[in-house]
Amino acid sequence: MRIAVIGSGSVGTGLAKSWSALGHSVVIGSRSPESERIIDLISEIGNGVTAAGLSESVVGADVIVLAVPWSAAEISIAALGDLADRIVVDATNPFVKGLNLEIGHTDSGGEQVAKWATGAKVVKALNIVDARLLNGRKLESREISIPICGDDSESKEIVADLIAELGFDVIDAGKLEISRLLEPLCLLMIKLSMKKSLGNAIGFRVLRD
Ligand SMILES: NC(=O)c1ccc[n+]([C@@H]2O[C@H](COP(=O)([O-])OP(=O)(O)OC[C@H]3O[C@@H](n4cnc5c(N)ncnc54)[C@H](OP(=O)(O)O)[C@@H]3O)[C@@H](O)[C@H]2O)c1
Repeated sequence: MRIAVIGSGSVGTGLAKSWSALGHSVVIGSRSPESERIIDLISEIGNGVTAAGLSESVVGADVIVLAVPWSAAEISIAALGDLADRIVVDATNPFVKGLNLEIGHTDSGGEQVAKWATGAKVVKALNIVDARLLNGRKLESREISIPICGDDSESKEIVADLIAELGFDVIDAGKLEISRLLEPLCLLMIKLSMKKSLGNAIGFRVLRD
């Protein structure tokens, strides 16, 4: 698959490394694709990963992953151009001023992303897992669960397969509206990791028979 990962930070880099190692064609969409930092990053990752400006990066991409800070989400989406009918994975969390959720209960970042990316098939995913675990690392010998949600079943299946390939236990949690529950869950994981000193090697897992 051709995957455009928007953002060259922790999440973007982690996904680019892991998916490209599995043979996917990954392009990192960046505000500065020709900067020394990005050139070094691309060379370090290898596996044919390339970098491009935002609008160029999504050309021909089967899946587009939004991995930018919440404060930059709207402007980044606008810079991508027309996203109608495109599969957009929203990995962001709507944090403002540190670890405070800007939206919750009656709306969510995922739903807001769908409004900004007019006509796109938005799938909320990967917002709960620490970027350092995007290589599919198992914890207590178990795969970490990745709940995903979205309104388009076919897109969810494509995204679920891509995430499962990374080594995760993917769970279809329902419609995009479920983002209202997935985003606060990220906050819990971060608080457990940082404030309770559990470290970054913690993951969410749904146990079932
Ligand atoms: N870190 C985690 O463990 C984790 C886990 C799950 C979800 N998330 C969510 O995923 C998103 C990305 O997280 P991250 O940790 O990868 O962030 P990050 O390390 O800060 O990287 C974000 C990237 O977004 C791009 N960007 C575009 N506009 C920007 C702006 N105005 N300011 C800063 N960067 C901008 C930058 O790439 P270019 O300079 O190349 O444009 C930057 O490298 C966030 O919404 C976060 O809440 C993070």
